[in-house]
Amino acid sequence: MTQDELKALVGQAALQYVTPGEIVGVGTGSTVNKFIDALAGIKDQIKGAVSSSEASTARLKAAGIPVFEAEAVDALSVYIDGADEIDHQGYMIKGGGAALTREKIVAAQSSRFVCIADESKLVKALGAFPLPVEVIPMSAARVARQFEAKGGKAVLRLKDGQPLVTDNGQHILDVTGLSITDPLGFESEVNQWPGVVTVGVFAHQKASVCLLGTSEGVKTLSF
Ligand code: 5RP
Repeated sequence: MTQDELKALVGQAALQYVTPGEIVGVGTGSTVNKFIDALAGIKDQIKGAVSSSEASTARLKAAGIPVFEAEAVDALSVYIDGADEIDHQGYMIKGGGAALTREKIVAAQSSRFVCIADESKLVKALGAFPLPVEVIPMSAARVARQFEAKGGKAVLRLKDGQPLVTDNGQHILDVTGLSITDPLGFESEVNQWPGVVTVGVFAHQKASVCLLGTSEGVKTLSF
């Protein structure tokens, strides 16, 4: 099976976690796009979605799924999103699509985080994927130096030759060379640095379940 087919498989499988009549938390990325496509098939059975990015909002609306503002909804029973890496404890690196801050907000509103991913995303230890960090632009150089002091190398993410601007009007640093042995402690520490909006380690908002697309079918990992 191709990676695209594995993404479609887990996107479809995630429908089992959607409760009829409810609002669903929806993440961002190519795997989530498959989930949105599957969700469109049952759109009459749900109330709508809270979205984690302008891109997912556009796709949900195009599919005829009502989109609610996060602040208009008290709590969600489920949030469905992809990951750039997920380990065997359900800790993740996210933000490859630059939507990490809103993803973490919607995840925090949700009782359960269902991660959908193809098997290439499952890792023994986090850190091979460049860690995305959303920063306020004036802090980028300082935050990059703080990562250097930890042995990392931070690079400003560009789009069309210019710094990428997130949905929140901020920038992204991608950091390589880190060893993330304590995801909870690492997330807490980096989130304290002045100018950091969100670090792409999802440890405090880890996955409850991962639906992993493999050539033998969907494997369910519970954490
Ligand atoms: C976006 C994310 C995505 O969930 C992550 O990048 C995985 O994306 P894809 O499903 O396209 O591989 O965190 O900010």
